[in-house]
Amino acid sequence: MKIAVRYFSRSKNGNTRKLAKAMSEALGVEALDISHPVDKDTDILFLGNSVYYEDADPNVKSFIDNLELEKGTIYNFSSSAIRKSTHSQIKKCIEERKRKGETGLKLSDKEFFCKGEFGLMHKDRPNSCDLMNIKDFAKNVVAAYN
Ligand SMILES: Cc1cc2nc3c(=O)[nH]c(=O)nc-3n(C[C@H](O)[C@H](O)[C@H](O)COP(=O)(O)O)c2cc1C
Repeated sequence: MKIAVRYFSRSKNGNTRKLAKAMSEALGVEALDISHPVDKDTDILFLGNSVYYEDADPNVKSFIDNLELEKGTIYNFSSSAIRKSTHSQIKKCIEERKRKGETGLKLSDKEFFCKGEFGLMHKDRPNSCDLMNIKDFAKNVVAAYN
């Protein structure tokens, strides 16, 4: 089974990068930023991103616009300071592509979300508990395929 981890991290804290690295440790799969393409025959794509100005980042939207998966499922993981996860924004991008008939991309309803440090808010998040939780999330997703 082919598993990929891609992430986009914008803030200097690198919150999404920390989550992606924890996932990488748990799965033994390299976590790469979204400048790295994903193989078409990937089965599970963990996609890490965050909320900026109440939305998903344009770079992440563009990554999805160019993503080609033959059969795989995307699992979103994200963090934010105030808002909930980016799942609904990511879903919108995927549905837009489907409307154009471009793809059979699938987004799972299963996702990981935690608070992320932003200025004085949520100091040190993701913390060790968040990192443990995302490791469990990743392992559970993969275990369900076996
Ligand atoms: C430029 C900028 C804008 C942000 N806007 C929002 C926002 O509108 N709503 C929110 O809940 N969090 C917002 N945040 C907080 C981030 O979602 C949060 O800190 C996240 O963990 C950052 O992940 P990163 O370190 O991987 O970039 C913003 C952060 C930055 C840097």
